[in-house]
Order: sequence, then structure tokens, then C-alpha cells
Amino acid sequence: MSQPPPTRIAIYPGSFDPLTNGHVDIIERGARIFDKIIVAILVNVEKTPLFSEAERVALIQEVFKGQPNVQVETFDGLLVEYAQRKGASVLVRGLRAISDFEYEFQMALMNRHLAPGIETVFMMPAEQYTYISSRLIKEVFMLNGKIDGLVPPVVEEQLRAKRAGRSKPQD
Ligand code: PNS
Repeated sequence: MSQPPPTRIAIYPGSFDPLTNGHVDIIERGARIFDKIIVAILVNVEKTPLFSEAERVALIQEVFKGQPNVQVETFDGLLVEYAQRKGASVLVRGLRAISDFEYEFQMALMNRHLAPGIETVFMMPAEQYTYISSRLIKEVFMLNGKIDGLVPPVVEEQLRAKRAGRSKPQD
């Protein structure tokens, strides 16, 4: 009797502070190719994120609530060790421009050095998202710039709440 094909699990790691439509685009592409894609939020004790880990998990879960093969988790420590624990054989990363390449190239090769059985797969988002990053979204939005169409509506809503909280007069 033939064996059922193995389940292909991919990890899409990042900070996602916050999730942008560029991330959404990559997750959707990944979900079409792999049996399961785990969006893995790095727990970074050194950074002070705008959104807490719990907020980021909740936002991504909300955006992908109709898609059972998209899961959301947090991780710390080495990415490849986390991937091995999850039984994943693929790391997905988005490539927006040449400027991303050097950093991504180094990470992919270091991860291969650490875990030769895990492959990094790069995907390009749709052109209209190639210039956006979480960092720019936060900066522009907090300075009252418009970001419509660049993040999911629930993320924009939460950004609005953060901005309102920050502009309250201090005691
Ligand atoms: O999209 P980001 O925020 O640049 O993601 C960076 C991330 C989370 C992929 C990277 O920092 C990471 O993998 N951190 C976990 C620690 C680790 O494994 N470091 C070695 C990477 S070669």
C-alpha cells in the first residue's frame, strides 16, 4: 500500500509589528503552496514593539480566521530549532527589493548551516506592496499620513487606537 504524501509545513517568521498587506500577500501565496503555514512571531525581549505579542497574534488570527491551514504562534530562540520542533521543512521569507537580498541571503545560509534539512523559500509580494514595511507604516501613520490599502482594516483600526492613546495629553 502506498503511503500518503507527507504534510508540508512551512514557517513564515517575523516581527509582524504590525501585519501589513505585504505580509498578507506572502501568507496567502504560502497557504496555496504548502499544506500548512505557521506565521511565527518572534518574541524579542530587546525590542519595544508597538503591538504586544498577544495583540499581534490576535490580529493575524482575525485576518486569517477563515483559513484553517494558516496558524499563528510565537517563538523564541533559534528559528531552525523552532521549525524542527514543529516538523517544518521550509522557511518562507518575502523579498521586496534588491535591498532585502543581502540580509536574507545571510540568514538563509546561516539557517542552512545550522539545519541543512530546512530550506528557505523566497516569495515576491504583489508589486503594490514592494515598498511597504511595518516600520514605515508605523512612522507614517503616527504622523497622520494615510495608509489605506496597505494594511488590513483591523490593523488600521488598532493603529488608530494606538495613535489616539499616544496623543492624549500627559500629566
Ligand atoms: O521580518 P524580520 O522581523 O526581519 O524577522 C527576522 C527573523 C525573526 C526572521 C530573525 O530575526 C530570526 O529568525 N530570529 C530568530 C533567532 C535566530 O534564529 N537567529 C539566527 C537567524 S540566521
